[in-house]
This record gives sequence, structure tokens and C-alpha cells, in this order.
Amino acid sequence: MSSTAPALSGTAGDGAPHYHRRPHPGPCSPAERNRALTAPVFGTVFTDHMARARWRAGTGWDERRVEAYAPLALDPAAAVLHYGQEIFEGLKAYAREDGSVWAFRPELNAARFAASARRLALPELPEADFLASIQALVAADAAWVPGAPGTSLYLRPFMFAAEAFLGVRSARVVDYLVIASPAGAYFPSGFEPVSIWVADGQHRAGPGGTGGAKCGGNYAASLLPQQQAAANGCAQVCFLDAATNTLLEEIGSMNLLVVTCDGTVHTPGLSGTILDGVTRRSVLDLCREQGRPVTERPLPLAEVLDGLRSGQVAEIFACGTAAVITPIGRLAGSGFDLTVGAGRPGPVAQVLHEELTGIQRGTRPDTRGWMYRLV
Ligand code: COI
Repeated sequence: MSSTAPALSGTAGDGAPHYHRRPHPGPCSPAERNRALTAPVFGTVFTDHMARARWRAGTGWDERRVEAYAPLALDPAAAVLHYGQEIFEGLKAYAREDGSVWAFRPELNAARFAASARRLALPELPEADFLASIQALVAADAAWVPGAPGTSLYLRPFMFAAEAFLGVRSARVVDYLVIASPAGAYFPSGFEPVSIWVADGQHRAGPGGTGGAKCGGNYAASLLPQQQAAANGCAQVCFLDAATNTLLEEIGSMNLLVVTCDGTVHTPGLSGTILDGVTRRSVLDLCREQGRPVTERPLPLAEVLDGLRSGQVAEIFACGTAAVITPIGRLAGSGFDLTVGAGRPGPVAQVLHEELTGIQRGTRPDTRGWMYRLV
């Protein structure tokens, strides 16, 4: 990628968005970087650079660049700090043995980012801009993409209201950034079953709310129930729908799937209150291609509990970008505490995990054109 393209227009000669690179004056030494890449704990280590752009009402997106990773100078009146007008995405870059680096279906993240922006009254970032920003950042920090099995470079694009203004309206100055963090397994236990606490009476999202958008507020709302899950010896919290308090919706950072003995995979439908997960979609696509029946529908907790007691429910697992596929070994809540399967990863979760991670790493054929070359 050229580093001499015009910074003012923020586009390359062909009109494509261009993120002008201003290299870090003092990047990590190879020795420091290698230390950081050894067994990285999710979300704790960041690369040398970040990508950014700014939107202003009236003039649109500009000031695209890749520059040294550094703390932000933010006005204390920046609207995001007061009213939470913010969205984000999560996707991963995978290194292959030939030195190339690939992302998994990034155009779906771009589309969801635009949909989240619409719901939070933020400006939409065009898909070409989203892809150009992650490509430019990964090109600058290609040495940071870990290569060991189970590792990747986690990319975190986000956008927030940067205008210094305390009136309640959508901001007229908005910042977009992408940061990158080498990542191993999201859960320290790796591909081992986790325990889930079903929150009773506390909800993540309601009808007409922001549950379908990837915004920080949804995650803030999950933190207190998450503490209650931990107090009950569980690793994660699962939310019920706010309207009836009877339907399983989603786990704080993952979608939920239930496998019955006949091999059918059941998952809550996209009703607007749960996230349209890229991994969820891909898992459902793989299931359908493998001839596995799939139902996307309201999923009553009572039906799943009955199924666990009768043996009709064979497996439960969760999926998401960060956590990939995570088997669930225990489902607990007020008045119930049940083991799922034998408390071990089930065969459906295992097969899907192998297929999905194989496609992502390039060790299984990408027959659907899901992988997108970044470097
Ligand atoms: C992701 O899977 O990318 C997520 O957004 C989960 C994250 C909040 C850790």
C-alpha cells in the first residue's frame, strides 16, 4: 500500500478510501513483540498502530489515517461520555504459513456496523471504508498477527460521539477507530464446557430497544447479571426476553444454540433483541449444508429444561467471534441446576468447531468465499 496518497481527500487515486500511514516513531522491538505474542490473554495487549477517521456533519468522513497507537485526547464534554452514543465490532485476522493474512466474512461486520450506526443515530461508515481501514491497520502491523493454532489478531473497530456538547441530540463530530490485539482463546479453559447462569428478572434488551445493535450500552447492562452469574459459580450469563421472561435470548457476548437428540439445531430467531452474529450465521450455514435441520424460533427456557431432564436435549453451545464455539456443560438459574450432556463437549459442537476454525486458518477449503485476504 502506498504511503504517499493524498491525505486531504482521504481517497486513493481510484476513489477508494485510503488510510494514510504515519509509521510509529518507536514501535515495539521484535523481542518485546515476541514476548507479547507468547500466550496473549484476550484483550490485554495492543499493536503498534491504530486506524482512524473523523466524520463531521456537512462534510462527511475524512482524516483517514493509520498512526501510532496512543491514548485519545477527549474533551470531558464529549457526548459519548455522557449519553453512550457508541458502537463497535469484533473480527479476527488469521495468519497462514505462506505469510498471508485473512479475515473471516468482514463484509458482514461492515454491514452490521452500518446497521448499528443507524440504530444509534451515528453516521454509517461505507463498507469500502470499513474494509480499507482494517486492511491498512493489518498491513502496518502484520508482524503482530500470531501464527500458533488457536491464535489470531482480534480487530476492534468502534465509533463514538466525539463532539463536546451536553445537549441530547446525535453528535455532529464522530470518531471511528480500529485497534488490534493479539488473541488466544477467549476463555482460559479453551474448548472446554462453561457454566451458564440464566438471569431472572434482569434483561439485556427489550422490544424496540438496542439489543440488535452492537453498542456498548448492551454490554454495560450485562455486567451486573454477569456478577450474579459469577456469585452462583457460573462463567457466563444468559438473558431471557424482557417481554415475557420465559424465552432464552443470548449470552452476554455470544449467541446460543441447542441440539436435540434428533440432531436438530435450535436457536433464538433474530427478533431485534439479539445480535445477528457472524459466527451464528456461519454455524447455521454449515449445519444446513451438512444436512442438519435448523430452527430459528422463540426458544422457551421451560422447553430446554424439560429436554435436559428427559434427555431430549443432547448439547447446548454458544458461538461468537471472540469465543468461536463454546460448549456449555451446566445450565443453572433460580430453582434449577442441570448438567448438559455428560458435561463434556458434544459431537455437534466439536464438528462445527473443527470445520469453522479449519476454514478460518486455511486448513479446510473455503468453498463459500468466506475468507478475505488482508495482506
Ligand atoms: C465478539 O465476539 O467479537 C464480541 O463482541 C464479544 C466481545 C464483547 C468480547
